[in-house]
Parts: sequence; C-alpha cells; structure tokens
Amino acid sequence: MATSKDIRRAFLDYFNHHQHLEVASSSLVPHNDSTLMFTNSGMIQFKSLFTGEETSEYTRVTTSQKCMRAGGKHNDLDNVGYTARHHTFFEMLGNFSFGDYFKAEAIEYAWKMITNELGLSKDKLLATVYAEDDEAAKLWNKITGLPEQKIICIPTSDNFWAMGDTGPCGPCSEIFFDHGPSFSGDLPGRSNGNGDRFIEIWNLVFMQYEQVSQEERVDLPRPSIDTGMGLERITAVLQGKHDNYEIDTMRHIIEASADISGADPDGKFKVSHRIIADHLRASIFLIADGVLPSSEGRGYVLRRIMRRAMRHIHIMGCTDPIMYRLVSTIVKDMGEAFPELVRASALATETIKMEEIKFKETLDRGLSLLSDETNKLGFGQPLSGEFAFKLYDTYGFPLDLTSDILRGQGRSLDQAGFDLAMAGQRAAARKSWFGLVEAAPDLIWSQVRKDVGATKFLGYDKTSINAVICSLIVDNKQVSSIHSGIDVLVVVNQTSFYAESGGQIGDTGIMRTSSGATLTVTDTKKKFGDLFVHVAISNSGIIKIGDSVEMLVDIDRRDRVRANHSATHLLHEALRRRLGCEVAQKGSLVTPDRIRFDFTQPTAITNGDLLWIESEVNRRVFQNSSVITRQMTLESALTEGSTVLFGKKYGEKVRVVSMGGKIESDNRFAWSVECCGGIHVKRTGDIGIVKIISEMAISAGVRRIEAVTAMGALNWINSHEKIITKVAAELKSTPEKLPARTHALIQEVHQLKRDLVKSRKQLAFGGGITKNVCGITFTIRLLDAVPACELKSIADGLKQQIGSGVVAIISNNNGKSSLVVAVTNDLVDRFSAIDLVRAASFAIGGKGGGGRLDMAQAAGGYNIIDSNNKVIAAIEEALASLYPSPIL
Ligand code: ALA
Repeated sequence: MATSKDIRRAFLDYFNHHQHLEVASSSLVPHNDSTLMFTNSGMIQFKSLFTGEETSEYTRVTTSQKCMRAGGKHNDLDNVGYTARHHTFFEMLGNFSFGDYFKAEAIEYAWKMITNELGLSKDKLLATVYAEDDEAAKLWNKITGLPEQKIICIPTSDNFWAMGDTGPCGPCSEIFFDHGPSFSGDLPGRSNGNGDRFIEIWNLVFMQYEQVSQEERVDLPRPSIDTGMGLERITAVLQGKHDNYEIDTMRHIIEASADISGADPDGKFKVSHRIIADHLRASIFLIADGVLPSSEGRGYVLRRIMRRAMRHIHIMGCTDPIMYRLVSTIVKDMGEAFPELVRASALATETIKMEEIKFKETLDRGLSLLSDETNKLGFGQPLSGEFAFKLYDTYGFPLDLTSDILRGQGRSLDQAGFDLAMAGQRAAARKSWFGLVEAAPDLIWSQVRKDVGATKFLGYDKTSINAVICSLIVDNKQVSSIHSGIDVLVVVNQTSFYAESGGQIGDTGIMRTSSGATLTVTDTKKKFGDLFVHVAISNSGIIKIGDSVEMLVDIDRRDRVRANHSATHLLHEALRRRLGCEVAQKGSLVTPDRIRFDFTQPTAITNGDLLWIESEVNRRVFQNSSVITRQMTLESALTEGSTVLFGKKYGEKVRVVSMGGKIESDNRFAWSVECCGGIHVKRTGDIGIVKIISEMAISAGVRRIEAVTAMGALNWINSHEKIITKVAAELKSTPEKLPARTHALIQEVHQLKRDLVKSRKQLAFGGGITKNVCGITFTIRLLDAVPACELKSIADGLKQQIGSGVVAIISNNNGKSSLVVAVTNDLVDRFSAIDLVRAASFAIGGKGGGGRLDMAQAAGGYNIIDSNNKVIAAIEEALASLYPSPIL
C-alpha cells in the first residue's frame, strides 16, 4: 500500500519530470500579505507571480504546501472531527504555470497523473466545469474521453476559485472520485451533491483574473494555472479508505492518542481522537513556523485550536497533560518532508505541555466562577449570554462545557446574548488584526509611489550623498514648498538614510539644500518596501520640490547602530550553538544604545549558558575578522546554512551577511551566516565589546536578551562599578572583599536573630508566679512583646523546668494577646490543655482555642493581659474541678 510519503513523492517527481521545479512549501504565516491570516492554499507564495507584480525565470513549479484553514475566507475549524474530510491543517499538492501552459495541458497532466501514475480507474472519475467555461468542458471530453454525463457544469461559485476577498481568481474544474453506491450522495451540483459518494480530489484553477476590490476584477497579465489536490484525500482513495482520518499518518496519531489516554480509538471518543489528531498537527506546524499561543492574531487562533483539542482530552476523562506526548509521532511521520518540524520538536513539546497545564488551571477557575454565578440565579433561570461569553473569552472556558453544566442544572443559556457579544468581539479582533499587520496604505502614499517610484538606497557604502527632493508631505497633503519650523515627510530620488526594517532603527541626520536651507531628519521609515520616507522638521530657509539636497546621516549614531546590529548576529548564532538550532528569532530591536533580541526558548537559560554565550560572542569580536555581504539566490543562501529566512520567497535574491570564524580564507568558514538587509561593521573588532545586561522570559516560550556594545558597554560597566564601589565604602570594605563581607553580615544578622529568641526565652524562664493547686504545680508567665510563634517552645522549656505540672503563658505582642497552656506528660490523662485554654478564654468572653492534649493555644481580639487575673483564676478553677477524686 502506498504511504502518504510515497504519494507526495510520486506527485512531485511526476511534475518534476515534466519540467516543473520542485519548490519547498512556504511558511503557514504568509509574510508580506496582510490580507491573509494563514497560508490557505498552494498558490499563496506565488501570488505576485500570477499578478505580474514579480517575474521569475521559472514558469513551471510544483509543491506540497502546508495549509491552514482556521480563519478568514476558508475556515473549516468547526467541522473538524465530525466529518470525514475537514481539517484545519492539511497538505496541498499542486502544479503551477505562470503564463506557461493553460487549460489543455493542465487537464492532461492531471488526468495522466491520477490514471497512469496513481492508477485510479477512469470509470471512477468525473469532472466538473464552471458553467460558462465551454472550452474546459470540450477539453475534458477530448483529452480524457470522459462521456458528457461525467462532465458536469456547475453554475455556482463552487467552480470559481478565489484566494480571498482580493487576489488572483478564476473558473475551476474539479475532479471527483466515486466511492460507489454503498455511500449516499448525488452527483456534484445536484441538491444532495454534498453527500459522501462523490468526493472532490483535485481542483484545477484556470487563473485568469485578479479581484482588486469588491467591485473591481481585472484580467491577469497572462493566463496561468494553479492546482490543488489534498494529500489526505488522495491518500484515502489510494489506501481504500473513505475517511481521511483512516489514512496512515492520521491513524498513527489517533492510535497513539488512544494508547496514552486509554480510550478506544473507535469507541465513543472517536471524534475526540480525531480532533486531537488534527489540531495537534496544526499546532506543531504553526509553532514550527514561529507562531506561539497568545491572546491576539495568529497566536490566538493557535491557542483556540490547542484548547479545542484539550477540551476533548478533558472529555475523555484524562486529568494529566497528554497532548505533548504525541508530538514525536507526527515528527516521525512528517519530519523528513518538513525538516522544520524536527528543529521545532523540543519547542513544540514544551509549548504544548505548558498550554495543557494552563488549560487545566483555566478549567478549575472557570468551574468555580460559573458555580458562583449560577448560585446567584433563581431556580431554572438561564445564564446570561454576556457572562458565558466572558467565561469563554476572558477566561478561556469552553462554551460547550458551560452548556453541559447548565444542562445538568436544568437551566439554559441565553444564546442570543452570547452571539451578540461574540459578534462584537469578532469585529474588534478583525480591526486589531488589520491594525497589527499594517495600516492600509493611504491613497496619498500610493500616489507618491506611483509618481516617484522606488527610492534608490545608497547607504550601505555611503553616509552622505546628493539627491533631489521629489515629494513633501505635510499633514497628509502633498505640498510644493515649505518654510522653517514645519513637520514634514520628505521623499527623495535616492538616499543614504537607512529606513527602519529588520529590527534596525531608521537613520537620523541632516538634509541641506544648495541654497543652505536645512531639515533635521528624526527618523526614516519605509512604505511598500521600497519608498523611503524621511521624517523631518525644517530648520531654516525655503525648501521646494526639485531642490537638490545633501543627505548627511548622523555618522556617530549610525556607527553605534551598525555595531549593535552585527553584535545581534553574533548573539543569535551563539544562542543557536549553545541552546540548539531550534532557537528562532522572534523579533529584535537594534538602536544606537542597546540591542533587544527575542527568541523562542521553552526553558530558563542558566548563568553558565549566558556566560558561554557572552564570551563566545566576544571571542568572535576580538578575532576582528571581515564582515562580508553578498547577494545570492535564496537557494544558495540555504545551501550555505543561512538562518532567518522567514518571509523570503523562492527565486528571490537575498543579501547574506557572514562574519566570524576563518572567513578571511573562505566564506564557507564564516561562523555566522544570516540573510539580512541591515547595515553592519566592516570588521567584527569594530563592535568593541558585547555585554549582556539582562535575560528574562517575556511570554510563554519566548525569552529576551538585552545587550550593549562598545562605549555603551563601557558606560554600563562603569556605572555598575560605581554602584559596587559605593556599597563597598558604605560597608567599609573593598569591591574585592564585598562578597565575603556581605556573607559575613548576613551570618551576623542570622546569629543576632537567634540570640534574640534565646534571650527572650531566658527572660521568660526566670520570674513569674508558681502556685500549688490541689497538689499540682501551676506556673504562670506574663510576657511582653514575645511573638505568639515562640510561646510553645517557651512552654516546652518551662515544662522541663517544673518536671510535673501545668504551665500558662500570656503574651501581648503588637496589640495582640496570646495564651498557651501546657500540661506535662504525666498529667495528660487527668487534664487536657485544650479544656484549660478554653476555660480561660471563655472566662474573658473569648471564642475558645485549640491544640493538643499537652499544649493548646488561644488568641484573639480580646486582651488577655488586661484580664490576666481572670484567666489565671479560670485555669485554677478548671484545674480544681477537673482534679479527680482521690482513688479509694
Ligand atoms: N487554489 C486552489 C484550491 O485551493 C487550487 O483549491
């Protein structure tokens, strides 16, 4: 039986054989596309090749793409587990033509692939075409020989595929597999066409248009092809299964889940196992692509997916975390095709385990909040939708669990109220999602970009150049000139100013026109990736469009920034070498004053690790080797082991920065190799020195290191030295002797504390009153300012002192009184310390006390000291009354 792995390989090899270049799957996070939350099909990474925005020397490509459908236009989340073919995560096999072949070849390739290569019988296959696409219908008949009744015209959007609300789109043809009459379901397009008998296995999209906005659709420059065949679906067909969850890879996870939970894989928890299997795959793949659970954006969706699976683990009655133990099953099956899974496996295991622990806490807290709320409700009164939503949204408590519990109490949930609150939250989330990614480009900027074109960046080699002012923007309006004292955004034809990107802060400096007018540039930003915007204030003179300007970058600040940027690369590499290659950069900030570097790391970093990392980084600095930057294709960069390739697209030229190691003799021996568009030092020695100044966790699985370099490091070291010298002087010591001196002082404080306790005891043992009550020695101590916690040990000491008898100690400490009564062992079968302490307490209106037979305590708001005579009298009385009659 062909495995999923065999089928994936057969597909890619077939198209490779037909001159298609095999390209790796892109990330599930569609970088550079703010309209999408997740990569939802194979064509996403090629979107700009379809629209003509970019060109490539390759016009035929094949992939097996990681896809997520858990948000946005294509969202399958709620169906997953209950149906045979819905997934959040799945793999899509595809072949693509960018203006190369079109309908006829696409149909022929697909047909030969499934009938010849995969061996499916022609009798079991049908095709659908978009009703207006007569050409496709004719081609199907001509190429495949399928009779007319097996080529079905569909007039609906089912046969018109679109990437999202905007983007490339076109009519499509779908190939269906007939699972036979034992399954119910009508032909595609009929009213019961969504049944289980005819299953779509491959979608061929004839990309012809681009949906630019809701109203506007334009022709693509060249008709193209985008196809998608779900690997899980075709595997099910080839493995003789009707259900995707029965295929090899899914079954492995389900069986592992059954093993660990002890719940039958096909019994009453069948759906739960399927949900766990699907959601776990999605979670691991998302984590491997840099998404971590959080309360917003993609991280929020990941957390919801994880929690949906954990909810099912709870339903199966498992109280301990188990999901994280299934990670290895998936990595084993899919790690070869997706090596990022192997790299992220430790991180995924740790992240999932932490989420499972947190979820358990969530459940406990939610149950208690819900019970507080329902206790307030009258019999049968429904729970407000608003409260159920708060439980769900703020506390992460699953709605179905709330409903289950309410059902058990014979009450309902105000579903309409819940839906209303949910709709409000969705609107807010959508707003924040778009806000987060990138504010919609203003019209004015599109206009400037169109008129002026991309800004030429010359700042890698030069800090001062001549340019021409192309656009001046004041208060969101283009103006032709400005006078002094105006906040303005300036666009020039070419610049030496680096615009903020890749964590590196934008340059600052001065612009000076030939007539002597100047502008101070306080920041430089980028729009559309290549339009440099100088944020400035005009100082003097008139500045006009068309003026020539000298662009003078603040060199000292730039040098500090470049040292910090190169140090960040060394730090990143040292982290990878010490903690493992799965350490992934989660963000960085490179300013003139410090470096902030965030990275994925599930566990704490030891002092030993930090020391190693810091000295290794400095070793590379002191080597003072060259820093080499080269332009190369992404593929060559990957071959050289370059890191941080998030968001890079296939075929793109990337800038690779190498430093450290024996780089002088051969680039291949560079210690750190990273794709980066930032500005770096010429030699590592220019960094001076790197000092790590803090290390901490900033969210689950993400840690942050802050560091300073060069003069910044010296200043930091000096200021810390000053603190140490000051403390040493205060302690009349020297910095070298400070550890021993501090240790000695701490010891001294401990000793003093011990001595104080001892003195109090000694004080307590002396003096006091001793009486004889019916032949029993009764000794009393009235103490001042001795804490309640010390009274018992004093009582023990006094018991030893008197040998046989009863001890009462009363102390007033910080306005609170305490009473301890102790009875020596020889008398415990005659008197109970508890009875005596209670008698004393009741005598002065207290609430009693408690303890053991030989030692009991009472404390409280009443003041025993003021009433000590009453207390003593009460104990004496109790002693006398409890004293047993003489034995006859
Ligand atoms: N992009 C097409 C789909 O996802 C092939 O169905």
